[in-house]
Amino acid sequence: MILILSGSPRKNSINSGLAKYIQNAYEQYNVESLIFDLSSTQLPLFTDEESDYDNENVQKLLKYVEKATSIVICTPEYHNAVSGALKNCLDFLNRDHFFNKKILMFVAGCHGKGGINALNNLRLIMRGVAADVSPQQHVIDGEYFDEEQNLVHEEHQLIVKELIYSLVQFTETKV
Ligand SMILES: Cc1cc2nc3c(=O)[nH]c(=O)nc-3n(C[C@H](O)[C@H](O)[C@H](O)COP(=O)(O)O)c2cc1C
Repeated sequence: MILILSGSPRKNSINSGLAKYIQNAYEQYNVESLIFDLSSTQLPLFTDEESDYDNENVQKLLKYVEKATSIVICTPEYHNAVSGALKNCLDFLNRDHFFNKKILMFVAGCHGKGGINALNNLRLIMRGVAADVSPQQHVIDGEYFDEEQNLVHEEHQLIVKELIYSLVQFTETKV
């Protein structure tokens, strides 16, 4: 199973739209994927207390991450970094959760030159959990989504499909 983690806390998030696009593309590849979307599944603030893990959404996150063979992360860029919601989510996880998994990163919703800071920030965070992050990554400007957060730009659709296919090959060698 490939986990698609969408890191925006916003309703009507473009990253949520991208996560859905990726899930549909995986369906076409006959590969199981699940979305964990921080805009609809809120996590408590990580406090490093045992009681953090009583929360049902934290349990769901851990279950999904443990089941995943690979993880696609879609994040917005907030003030030149990933969203606070995504950083908080990743604080619940450690290097054991990422062992022997491939990670692929996308940023959606930026304009102009935006996005690269979020990717660099996420790459640094993922280094902190010793994750195997693909050197390939992609930014998709907000203008390539329609008003219902569907990715509608054909060229970007093709790039996304090509990038996510690399995780299919990795996943197949593990099942
Ligand atoms: C708090 C905040 C900070 C932002 N900072 C940046 C930024 O540094 N660079 C950028 O390109 N866009 C920035 N944006 C614009 C977001 O990238 C844009 O709203 C995007 O749609 C967010 O993705 P989402 O729809 O998935 O939430 C910011 C938006 C918010 C709400």
